[in-house]
Amino acid sequence: MTERSFVAIKPDGVERKLTGEIIKRIEQKGFKMVAMKFIKPSQELAEEHYGEHKEKPFYKGLVEFITSGPVVAMVWEGKDVIATIRKMVGVTDPLKSDPGTIRGDFGISIGRNIIHASDKLESAKKEISLWFSQDELVEYTPTLDKWIY
Ligand code: TYD
Ligand code: MG
Repeated sequence: MTERSFVAIKPDGVERKLTGEIIKRIEQKGFKMVAMKFIKPSQELAEEHYGEHKEKPFYKGLVEFITSGPVVAMVWEGKDVIATIRKMVGVTDPLKSDPGTIRGDFGISIGRNIIHASDKLESAKKEISLWFSQDELVEYTPTLDKWIY
């Protein structure tokens, strides 16, 4: 099966109405949407999602922030999708992200950096199964060009 990545537009991205712009960029790149939902994450989901940062000083604020409002959670599929979306997102600090990236174009604060995207295959698998049930991952075959997913 082709590679999949978990992507979430964080509460600040939703509030700033960047949802359409972000989905547009990923769609137009050529990746295939496999799942999407609009949810206000529970405390439990947020803590699990950011579990790797449990000991970090920013963890509590991070969990508070991600549970503060709705997020758009998505799964995207395609060749090298994990690394490619990370490149499209930019680095963690929006002020250090290149123009042309999502964080570089729309953000200035590390604590409000608009979007999450899986950083490697192992985390993508973990995050997809954490946020989505198997039946929410939609199976379909595009009927247009075979080289566009
Ligand atoms: P991290 O996984 O390091 O970044 P990325 O989202 O680029 O994979 O950190 C997770 C989130 O934690 C990050 O998106 C924003 C927040 N964060 C801070 O608020 N302060 C920090 O110093 C760091 C490193 C991250
Ligand atoms: Mg990360």
